[in-house]
Amino acid sequence: MAIFTAILVLACLFSGWPDVTAQGADNIDIAALRKTLQSAIELEWATIPPYLNAALSIKNGTNKPVNGILWSILYNEMDHMALASNMLNAIGGAPVLNDPARTPRYPGPLPAGCLPDLNVTLEKMTRAHTERVFMGIETPECEDSVTKYHDLISKAASPEASNKTSQSVEDAFPGLLAKCNERGFSPATIGAIYIHKILCPMLKLEMQAQGSPEGTIFTGDPGRQVSIPFKVSNLTTAIRAIAFITSQGEGGDACNPYVDDQFTDNNKKKVPSHYFKFAEIVNGKEVEYGGNSCPARQPWCRDYFAPCNGINCENAITFNGTEVPFDENEVWPIISNPSTDLYPPGSMARNLSDAFNAEYVSLMQCLHDAVNGQPDKMFGECIPDMKGLRSIGNQLVQTPINPGGDPAVGPNASPTYEVQGSLLNGKADSASARSYPQKLFSLFLSCSFIFRAMTTLVAC
Ligand SMILES: *[C@@H]1O[C@H](CO)[C@@H](O)[C@H](O)[C@H]1NC(C)=O
Ligand SMILES: *[C@@H]1O[C@H](CO)[C@@H](O)[C@H](O)[C@H]1NC(C)=O
Ligand SMILES: *[C@@H]1O[C@H](CO)[C@@H](O)[C@H](O)[C@H]1NC(C)=O
Ligand SMILES: *[C@@H]1O[C@H](CO)[C@@H](O)[C@H](O)[C@H]1NC(C)=O
Ligand SMILES: *[C@@H]1O[C@H](CO)[C@@H](O)[C@H](O)[C@H]1NC(C)=O
Ligand SMILES: *[C@@H]1O[C@H](CO)[C@@H](O)[C@H](O)[C@H]1NC(C)=O
Repeated sequence: MAIFTAILVLACLFSGWPDVTAQGADNIDIAALRKTLQSAIELEWATIPPYLNAALSIKNGTNKPVNGILWSILYNEMDHMALASNMLNAIGGAPVLNDPARTPRYPGPLPAGCLPDLNVTLEKMTRAHTERVFMGIETPECEDSVTKYHDLISKAASPEASNKTSQSVEDAFPGLLAKCNERGFSPATIGAIYIHKILCPMLKLEMQAQGSPEGTIFTGDPGRQVSIPFKVSNLTTAIRAIAFITSQGEGGDACNPYVDDQFTDNNKKKVPSHYFKFAEIVNGKEVEYGGNSCPARQPWCRDYFAPCNGINCENAITFNGTEVPFDENEVWPIISNPSTDLYPPGSMARNLSDAFNAEYVSLMQCLHDAVNGQPDKMFGECIPDMKGLRSIGNQLVQTPINPGGDPAVGPNASPTYEVQGSLLNGKADSASARSYPQKLFSLFLSCSFIFRAMTTLVAC
């Protein structure tokens, strides 16, 4: 039944994908989709170190609004990584988080061909860094044919849609399929990658599978699913995962600054997507949407904000709300784009940096295990690892690289996320990997870098 539509989809959908057209669209198969989902996991992962270093650089107890924004985004990124892993597991894949060759490197571009012109650096928190790198990472998709997907995805992800049991893909998501049939192009933003390289192939493959004996591509072992933020078990929950990720992140429709209500925990106040949260920091005020009384030359008005060059949003976006103050002096003077060899062997900076990287390795191994059949590890072990990482990081940013230096003057050390080849995948030489008594640092735990539970935790 689905063959004819499938051919249409094949003919139109994939024409803009370099890695796909090379093989011919007919070769888009479940293996290719698994590969793309692995890239999506790495993409989410690659956003964490730049945000984490900026968050750690903020002095304890200062810059609370900005600190809160950074941590809320970090929790979201962890959720997104978990959801991408759940999607991959749901279609019978096996996420890899413990391969040293796949750990993100800085400075450099994001993985998966995402935003190739963006040089992602590790730096202390500043407005300029936020504007160039963070707003760059979360940049909204301005391509019309993609922004139009977001309504459809949100609808398909809604509770009403999950009621549509045992329907064919075409019947359940007619609008989405029509959109996937529209002209293809090379996606570069995170949102466009999720839609064009993950959602559309998923729909197509599921449609094909409905005519096969298995009846679905969602054949993965449910026991491999991590329960936070939610499990992915079928097409509806997978679409929900994509909607959740894109709505929180670069935010679907570029002209709407807010996350779809169904993907926020906050029912009192609209929550801006990451891109607009970062823009609030840069502009020093919260975003306001829909006001139409903002004369362009008023200083408080800062003109209408135009996320996409040459596109005037129907509703005015302004940064005229509550102040989002940021004091750049209340930030530790950490070194940009650090590497281990800059820290003198035997120094406190080096020891702490080695301890940080050992904890990072142990966290990645833990997350790997959690999404490979041991989901209980997430809460039992990975979260303590995250706390440990945060605690060591807090000390690292207060540690001058040169022994005897003044931490207020710097330059102070910051996390390098360097992973030696032997450390991961159970091949760790435990003597060198854990040369520092890292467990000691776990005692310093203050605040928790917790996978979820963000509302309670951001308060720390
Ligand atoms: C931050 O400051 C609070 C209160 O001054 C203190 O309880 C907490 O331990 C400090 N955290 C770190 C990581 O230094
Ligand atoms: C990225 O930034 C780093 C540090 O500023 C710089 O050394 C490097 O050349 C940049 N890479 C590219 C491709 O621009
Ligand atoms: C789902 O279907 C049930 C039974 O038909 C109905 O009672 C319920 O209201 C529906 N839920 C939504 C969110 O549409
Ligand atoms: C998809 O999975 C969710 C959660 O397990 C379930 O509530 C829903 O009914 C399922 N939908 C379909 C179409 O099977
Ligand atoms: C911006 O804020 C100023 C001062 O609070 C107010 O007078 C003005 O109406 C606001 N503009 C918009 C567009 O909301
Ligand atoms: C760093 O660790 C080494 C090896 O454990 C130790 O000998 C050295 O004293 C430590 N350096 C500092 C500054 O604590």
